[in-house]
Amino acid sequence: TVAAIDLSDLRFWARPPAERARAFALLRAQPHPLYFRLPRVPFLRRDPGSWALVRHADVVEASRRPEIFSSEPSATSPTDMPGWMSGYFTSMIDMDDPRHAKIRRIISRAFTPKVLAAADDDIARRAARIVEELIAAGPGDFVAQVATRLPVEVICDMLGIPSRHHAQVVKSTNIVVGYTDPEYVGATADYTGAEVRVSPLRVIRVLTTVMLAGWRLHRLAARLGRRRRRTPADDLTSALVNANIDGERLSPREFAAFFLLLVVAGNETTRTAIAHGLKLFTDHPDQRRLLLEDFEGRIGGAVEEIVRHSSPVIFMRRNLTRDAEINGHHYRAGQKVTLFYASANRDEAVFADPDAFDITRSPNPHVGFGGPGPHFCLGAHLARREMTVMFRELFTRLPDIAAGEPDRLLSSFVNGCKRLPCTFTVPR
Ligand code: HEM
Repeated sequence: TVAAIDLSDLRFWARPPAERARAFALLRAQPHPLYFRLPRVPFLRRDPGSWALVRHADVVEASRRPEIFSSEPSATSPTDMPGWMSGYFTSMIDMDDPRHAKIRRIISRAFTPKVLAAADDDIARRAARIVEELIAAGPGDFVAQVATRLPVEVICDMLGIPSRHHAQVVKSTNIVVGYTDPEYVGATADYTGAEVRVSPLRVIRVLTTVMLAGWRLHRLAARLGRRRRRTPADDLTSALVNANIDGERLSPREFAAFFLLLVVAGNETTRTAIAHGLKLFTDHPDQRRLLLEDFEGRIGGAVEEIVRHSSPVIFMRRNLTRDAEINGHHYRAGQKVTLFYASANRDEAVFADPDAFDITRSPNPHVGFGGPGPHFCLGAHLARREMTVMFRELFTRLPDIAAGEPDRLLSSFVNGCKRLPCTFTVPR
């Protein structure tokens, strides 16, 4: 079982095939048995000096103490990336304050509830069009036809990315996030059910595919950035390229990595939450009934419960800056800890009947958007707005829409859903 935790490392592709097959089998299960119900004690990973925090109290405490649990040099990768790679992918999510706070402040206003409230009509119009097109096309893949579209349209529009690039953005971010899934990194031919055959060139091929995807997003950022430097517009790209931090602009790499973070975080996670939401309401008709009885009164609780239950982001990593003790456990300077949000979100010490999907759960102090601390999800309000608007539109137009079995992303980092068949009838 420890092997499956290590799978979120790119070097996973160099592991013996039997180990990969075991990890894939675990990831296929619903929900991932490891990440959602890890033993409730911190434990040493295979890599000496790495810990997994799986209890809610530990995840919260580590998030609250960023001066000890640092996000540098990386928060998104369980192991340190080689230097030639990290420049591409390292952004403010992998930085500590004060630099992190200064960069976050450039665009944080755009994500406040007040500013987003003004965007509600626009999000609603987009959702209505997407559902209209779903109805015209007929039942099919909910992920491609619905869940992917709203988040990618919204974040691309905020950044000023023209719609002709949306498909490329989805393709590239799928690879950056889903690098352990054979389908996304060109290893499909080697993948047969539980059997994974190894080829000596695999690691190089995967690395090249991931780097190319990152490079495409950097190139898009650079082109758009150059244009916005010349002629600023009312979008986040203009804010980023023209920002002044302590008398300096963001370096081209810093800007592009931030751009990449926004397109990845802004579309992959919310897509997952919308897809899981439909599946959860299909599997729990009593909860759907409850929601439809009082949609406006209950959708807020439903959104939080979908994020808790499905935990689109399974973990983030921290790095110990000095020796510390939290909740009776000793950590040493230099050690790495992985904060398993998915596991903390099913901690029975905090959530009664944690595996149940209960949209009336209150309080619901989940850590699906991260723990309380400086890195708490910048896009949480946006994700909530998108989910609310999407489910309002879906359940109003197609009250019986239902999901079949999901085709899961083979990742231990994101609880993604690649495809989700759906059925519905259109009321007369
Ligand atoms: C950070 C989850 C939607 C942008 C985070 C973190 C989590 C998370 C767990 C914490 C990272 C850490 O502590 O190291 C989610 C989930 C979402 C979602 C579950 C949807 C259901 C979005 C959206 C955006 C976004 C729509 C839009 C741009 C970000 C950014 C950060 C972040 C920029 C980094 C914040 C920082 O380092 O200060 N998200 N997110 N997220 N999220 Fe989200």
